[in-house]
Amino acid sequence: MIEKPQQSLGFFIFRQEQLFMEKKHLGFELSIFNSMDELSNTDALLLQEAEKARQNSYAPYSKFSVGAALLLESGKIIPGSNQENASFPAGLCAEGVAVFSAGANYPNEKIKAIAVTAASGSNNLTSPAAPCGICRQTIAEYEKKQGSPIQILMKGQTGPIYKCDSMADLLPLGFDGSFL
Ligand code: THU
Repeated sequence: MIEKPQQSLGFFIFRQEQLFMEKKHLGFELSIFNSMDELSNTDALLLQEAEKARQNSYAPYSKFSVGAALLLESGKIIPGSNQENASFPAGLCAEGVAVFSAGANYPNEKIKAIAVTAASGSNNLTSPAAPCGICRQTIAEYEKKQGSPIQILMKGQTGPIYKCDSMADLLPLGFDGSFL
């Protein structure tokens, strides 16, 4: 006699999930430009300022230099570059240096955009290095603080330029002060 297979608990749970769960897609739109020529004047200028800021990078350990430039609503541009330390955790990323500098010196001005550019000492960066997790968290905090999005522009040494409309796009389901 052929026996009917028993429904296992695993199968039951799977069925339950299929019936009740909801799936949400958390996607975002990335604009990709082939060269600086395709950017608006404001964006091109901000990236140039980030490239300039990168020249002040202090990265004797990683040989990976990063430059950032923030555009404030008044039109002021705030530079930052990564500053390393022999005790590695003491170093700061370029984005953090720029954002904290703006927060400390222009606490009431909104940040409209940040441009970030990176160069590696060991290989040619042909695509943008996106901000690290800590920088995403740092910038997301200022979006919350000012109540408006901060555009992000990213560039490697060569290759395309990426632009997205908000740090919330790059850090979906993020942690913020409302949880505290
Ligand atoms: N770095 C930045 O400045 N920004 C980032 O978003 C990623 C990493 C720096 C930190 C360190 O000085 C070097 O790049 C290598 O990790």
